[in-house]
Amino acid sequence: MDNTNGDIALAIFRTPELEDKENSAARLRIETLGASIDRVASEAADRAEVLHGLAQPQKTLPAKYFYDARGSQLFEEICGLPEYYPTRTEAWILDRYAVEVADATGPCELVELGSGSSTKTRALLDAYRNLGGALRYVPIDVSRTILTESAKQLLRDYPTLEVRGAVATYDRALAALSFKFAPTDLPSRMLVFLGSSLGNLTLEECDRFFGQVRGFLDAGEYFLLGVDLHKSTAQLDAAYNDSRGVTAAFNLNMLAHLNRRFGADFDRANFQHRAFYNEGDRQIEMHLRCLHSHEVQLGDRRFAFTEGETIRTEISRKFDVDAVRAQLDRYDLEPVNIWRDPQGWFASILSRRRVR
Ligand code: AVJ
Repeated sequence: MDNTNGDIALAIFRTPELEDKENSAARLRIETLGASIDRVASEAADRAEVLHGLAQPQKTLPAKYFYDARGSQLFEEICGLPEYYPTRTEAWILDRYAVEVADATGPCELVELGSGSSTKTRALLDAYRNLGGALRYVPIDVSRTILTESAKQLLRDYPTLEVRGAVATYDRALAALSFKFAPTDLPSRMLVFLGSSLGNLTLEECDRFFGQVRGFLDAGEYFLLGVDLHKSTAQLDAAYNDSRGVTAAFNLNMLAHLNRRFGADFDRANFQHRAFYNEGDRQIEMHLRCLHSHEVQLGDRRFAFTEGETIRTEISRKFDVDAVRAQLDRYDLEPVNIWRDPQGWFASILSRRRVR
């Protein structure tokens, strides 16, 4: 069909659905950070990081490798489990207090790290929509699949929303300062980091991360942080050892992801899910425990695994509100307000990049 006929066909068959679709597409942009020139360099850095972790006496793997398309889907399932209280608790806080957050910041462009399904973010989008003005959302996630699917869903549900997503790690997203929509009539931005994903970072990594947040935000801009708080070991252990085995599947799925991504030959039948609360370090640890001694090939490297040894795949630190506030403040992130659920399980902390 030539162009002219195509145009006519389009004109004739234009339906409300098609118009919605075209309108949605115009409001969506997703880019991959580090896509062109430093693609090779970032792939090499990722591989080196994995090799380094496997060469440690306590083998470790970065938690970001949970999140391929399948892992992101399993994580969504975890969020709905009866034992996994963080998601619904934070959702309760956001549903109830998003209006207060929006009132405190005024109109903002929302930039979210590790946006996943963006389900909880909807409470914020609702509140910011009600402030009037443009509604702009910059979701960032390592899984392109979940990023694209959630963005499309949001565009359908929010007819004025503009989405400019990025496939990227936290590091790469915060380092690439190119996120501002140009031109934007929004006076400010709010960086959103929900779900206590901060818990995956060691205290030292948190310092580095908050330094990056300080660098990313302009003076007067906002940071909304969700943190899971200290609680009983029994409640924590249960949240990471659900009775349906979804967390186990999520943990083991990392091996399939690494096989695909780095050409490794992990056999997940050789490993078993382990998760426990380390009370001394106040962190959940997720491990994959080796069931039989064997070797694993990754590229040109071989790694020996002995029966009973583990790979630590995740830490999930549990926080103390005052300590987090003090740490934020050291990075010029001035506490503005804090909201908690009635049980005191979870907290949403709003801070503002200090104006000096
Ligand atoms: C997404 C990192 C916040 O630590 O609770 C859930 C990931 N791991 N179940 C968490 C997770 C096992 C989750 N974070």
